[in-house]
Amino acid sequence: ATIHDQKLQRGQGGELHQLAEGNTPVLTTAQGGPVADDQNSLKIGTRGPTALEDFHFREKIFHFDHERIPERVVHARGYGAHGYFETYKSLAKYTRADIFQRAGEKTPAFVRFSTVAGSKGSVDLARDVRGFAVKLYTQEGNWDIVGNNIPVFFIQDAIKFPDIIHAVKPEPDSGFPQAQSAHDNFWDFISLTPESMHMIMWVMSDRAIPRSFRFMEGFGVHTFRLVNAKDESTFVKFHWKPKLGLQSVVWNEAVKINGADPDFHRRDLWDAIKAGNFPEWELQVQLFDQDFADSFDFDILDATKLIPEELLPPIPVGRLVLDRMPDNFFAETEQVAFMTQNVPPGIDFSNDPLLQGRNFSYLDTQIKRLGSTNFTHLPINAPKCPFNHFQQDGHMAVRNPVGRANYQPNSWGEGPRESPQLGFRSFADVEEGPKQRIRAESFADHYSQARQFYVSQTPTEQSHIAAALTFELSKVKTPVIRERLVSHLLNIDMGLANAVAADLGLKAMPKAADAAVPTRQDLEPAASLSILAK
Ligand code: HEM
Repeated sequence: ATIHDQKLQRGQGGELHQLAEGNTPVLTTAQGGPVADDQNSLKIGTRGPTALEDFHFREKIFHFDHERIPERVVHARGYGAHGYFETYKSLAKYTRADIFQRAGEKTPAFVRFSTVAGSKGSVDLARDVRGFAVKLYTQEGNWDIVGNNIPVFFIQDAIKFPDIIHAVKPEPDSGFPQAQSAHDNFWDFISLTPESMHMIMWVMSDRAIPRSFRFMEGFGVHTFRLVNAKDESTFVKFHWKPKLGLQSVVWNEAVKINGADPDFHRRDLWDAIKAGNFPEWELQVQLFDQDFADSFDFDILDATKLIPEELLPPIPVGRLVLDRMPDNFFAETEQVAFMTQNVPPGIDFSNDPLLQGRNFSYLDTQIKRLGSTNFTHLPINAPKCPFNHFQQDGHMAVRNPVGRANYQPNSWGEGPRESPQLGFRSFADVEEGPKQRIRAESFADHYSQARQFYVSQTPTEQSHIAAALTFELSKVKTPVIRERLVSHLLNIDMGLANAVAADLGLKAMPKAADAAVPTRQDLEPAASLSILAK
């Protein structure tokens, strides 16, 4: 082929230019100006210097220099897909949320799965919690269920979140290691934080190395409220159950996969959806009232506790199908902004102090990460229902109020007005008490549910938990941290504590940690929880 056939032409330096011709469009600057030469910067003479006047060069480099935005402070590595949620039946008895009024109604959805601790370029099969964040574009605005694949959390109060994340992320002096290998800071924090023990059992289990996103459960974790048209409240926990069931890899496989294909999970989701194998989850809810909540010794506001599914079987209310990959990873998966405070009328918060803190954190972090108060102008974050407000201007605004009035009330009959009938009304719970920094006594038992989880596992799964703890703690250089952790295990299961202590080569068994509070939720080993059944 001649240079002419390929629409190529040699420049003065011998380099090949691809030229606009036929179907090839003219290259332009971001301002739309046509470009004559994209191979050579503008020079004085033949060998430079380069002229500052070269606006095309400057714009090209300037834009490249600014390509990266801050990665998420947590959950930096993630992968998303579009789909829809289909409501099975009306839940009008419990909630006025429009999404739950009509059987068969389909609501567009976007889901982002993630790991928590690693940076954007980390491996998919790290031992870690997986984020399971769902954005539902309802007719009453976006509803985000920003959940994880584990139904409980490490801490009870959001004020501890910076501490646990600092402890798990790279250490400030060395800048390593990552979540995949254990290290002193993380286990130091955990061993000093007994409330994390239940979550630690889950994180050391096979749940933390899922086979793929398609084989994971999702949990809203916190207790929320459903509120009906009569303003009556029912407590609710949200669970996503994968149609394909639950599957994990074993640690040996995880390590090999991470070396061979660090993108294993995202590739799996891409391949499945592109091949038409659309993954599906059922949304199930646990519904309960205040009397039921009061029947437990633990607190339903404590995110380190779950409500055993055998005591309160979840009810299927709809299904989530993922059927389309994003066209633009950055615009959609990277720029999607999930926020726990995005709830439609009929869904409300509980006083869970972790949830209350999250409700502040997510808006704050989106403005930092996406760089503008107008992140809702991005198509992935914009509601898909009509919306009208008087917010205006700011960085990168693409919309403003239309017409003369950008305030209300106004005399011009312009613009939207509030609706006590249709608008969001907070559930009028009655709260009173002294203003104080305190942890309720009902948050004090840190071991019973850790034990329930452990004893519900099969012997093979239990051996995986012991092996994971031994592997992780063997990386801890400070002996007292290992011993402190084993002292907690003694309050969970003697066999587990013995196995880990022996494998770590501890010379003497430490004393049990001084925090065990047995409760009547402390079920017999035989009464394993159906929630944990594989
Ligand atoms: C991000 C879940 C606790 C702050 C995320 C994401 C998930 C998640 C799934 C990733 C969202 C995405 O894919 O874009 C959870 C769960 C929690 C929890 C289930 C506990 C039950 C907290 C707490 C805080 C917090 C206590 C702070 C007080 C953040 C922040 C981000 C984040 C700042 C980054 C958001 C972004 O830049 O887009 N969380 N989280 N999280 N979470 Fe949480």
